[in-house]
Amino acid sequence: MDKKLLIFNWKMNLPILSEWNKAIKSSTPLFYKKRRGDIVVCPPFTHLEKVSKLIKNTKIKLGAQDVFYESKGSFTGEISATELKNLGVKYVIIGHSERRQFLGETDKIINKKVLAALKAGLKVILCVGEPKRDIKRHKKYDLRNAKNYIKKQLEKDLKGILNLKSYGLNLIIAYEPVWAIGTGKNDTPEDAAEIVKFIKKSLKLKTKNLKPMVLYGGSVNSKNIEDFAKYKKINGFLIGSASLKTKEIKNIIKAI
Ligand code: PGA
Repeated sequence: MDKKLLIFNWKMNLPILSEWNKAIKSSTPLFYKKRRGDIVVCPPFTHLEKVSKLIKNTKIKLGAQDVFYESKGSFTGEISATELKNLGVKYVIIGHSERRQFLGETDKIINKKVLAALKAGLKVILCVGEPKRDIKRHKKYDLRNAKNYIKKQLEKDLKGILNLKSYGLNLIIAYEPVWAIGTGKNDTPEDAAEIVKFIKKSLKLKTKNLKPMVLYGGSVNSKNIEDFAKYKKINGFLIGSASLKTKEIKNIIKAI
């Protein structure tokens, strides 16, 4: 199997840290020995420092769940890319659908955040995905509306960024159909792979050198991850609820 990037997004939850630590440390050495890819853990801001200490001397990387676009100043409650970097953060999730839906985060804001994070040298995981899937036609979903929706999101979120070739390597896209997040209703690996291919194609049209990794997220667990992982185009996974359960973590890593 080709390399996969596993992003564990804890959201506003915490696993029992000692158990999580034990589970991740027992399962990652083989993963890294076999060069299966990379693992990133994104705890809440309040736990970045603690988790950073836990994963010290391992190859696991630290990620944040959001970032603000200004570097400093009077922005109550916000956290800058520099502050995150000072805590050892290497990756940042931007534009997660929960922020778009519940916190009114617009494409304009997301665009500013992506630019600021890339400029600061962070790896950006930009989340895109359609809110609902159209009805089936001939036993297959019609993906045209989903593709149009995602295309528009990418255009707005990456406005003025795609031409900046030097940032290409640090840009990762996570395809997360909103209806599949936290619902237990994952997309079919076939449809997810088709959309991942579409995302790669739409980005390549803009600049030849930009070949971002594209991940899938939405109810990924240890039982379905292998079916997605078979698709070479899917470069990894953004995993929410399953990343909190020690047994799931072990099995997910084993499956990859
Ligand atoms: P889920 O969350 O795995 O619980 O569906 C994924 C995500 O929100 O990134």
